[in-house]
Amino acid sequence: MIQPSTAPARPRVLSGVQPTGALHLGNWLGAIRNWVDLQDSHETFFCVVDLHAITVPHDPKRLAEDTLTTAALYLACGIDPQRATVFAQSQVSAHSELCWLLNCVTPLNWLERMIQFKEKALKQGDNVSVGLLDYPVLMAADILLYDADLVPVGEDQKQHLELARDIAQQRVNARYAPDPEHPILKVPEPLILREGARVMSLIDGSAKMSKSDPNEGSRITLLDPPEVITRKIKRAKTDPVMGLEFGNPERPEADNLLGLYALVSGLGREQAAAACASMGWGAFKPLLAEATVEALRPLQQRYGELRSDPATLEAVLRDGRERASAVAGVTLQRVRRALGFLALN
Ligand code: TRP
Repeated sequence: MIQPSTAPARPRVLSGVQPTGALHLGNWLGAIRNWVDLQDSHETFFCVVDLHAITVPHDPKRLAEDTLTTAALYLACGIDPQRATVFAQSQVSAHSELCWLLNCVTPLNWLERMIQFKEKALKQGDNVSVGLLDYPVLMAADILLYDADLVPVGEDQKQHLELARDIAQQRVNARYAPDPEHPILKVPEPLILREGARVMSLIDGSAKMSKSDPNEGSRITLLDPPEVITRKIKRAKTDPVMGLEFGNPERPEADNLLGLYALVSGLGREQAAAACASMGWGAFKPLLAEATVEALRPLQQRYGELRSDPATLEAVLRDGRERASAVAGVTLQRVRRALGFLALN
């Protein structure tokens, strides 16, 4: 039963990013920036999903460090640990535990048809772990543990959210809640992120900017120094047409880079489009580079301060872990009880 004492006053939001590779402009403008806006109106939980990071081969020497980097970047982007709960997924053991319980009620073929699994499995050849297949169940556990009302997700994660809903509704509530008026798990809704924030690759305007693209020139990371940003933008793919514009299907690069300019300059789409309508690429690129450098400057400065003060970051994560564990523990007990386990007392 969802106990009234744990029912949040404001709608709850949970999201997370993997600590693999440096976060880039797409992660910031497409996701984390929206999280920042939600902090006042919602009760927010933001985790670094380090358990997801080991679903493909990983380097144990880097995992802890990358987890800290990602958490510090959340804060540098404006996540405020006074208002949001920021934590590392692996430090709240309820995630692994609920994942196991959900594994045992989730049909195998629901996982086998996940698009992301099929794509990643193809890349891994014959080295596919059970964890990679199970990735969406762990994600479902992340979400369901917090009775999240809303989950900000991009297009590529919608199928995973749908799966979390199906597990909660059909496989847990429908089967194990004796009274349908009192479900065991809350069924979350997707929160579709604001339009125009989908940042595409610098070398292919029709592919999403991605951490896993082997070409580093395809993305600008949040920690790239100014000269690297400038170089990557200089080398970004262009077309032979004069003037920047939105929405021309023949010109995905113009659409993407103008969109990026609208965001990093703060001008917004309309003004950016007007300012660059008759500008050639040669004039536009330095403008975009400078606006990007300026947009990242304060973020990089805050990041530097956070990383030079490890005690503060550790305290944020310790506090986050305690707050997250308290909420997650209550949900886990509810599921344990519903499935009939011997009580823990
Ligand atoms: N799978 C998500 C991604 O790659 C990351 C993630 C893990 C997540 N657990 C989550 C996102 C829970 C939202 C909620 O983007």
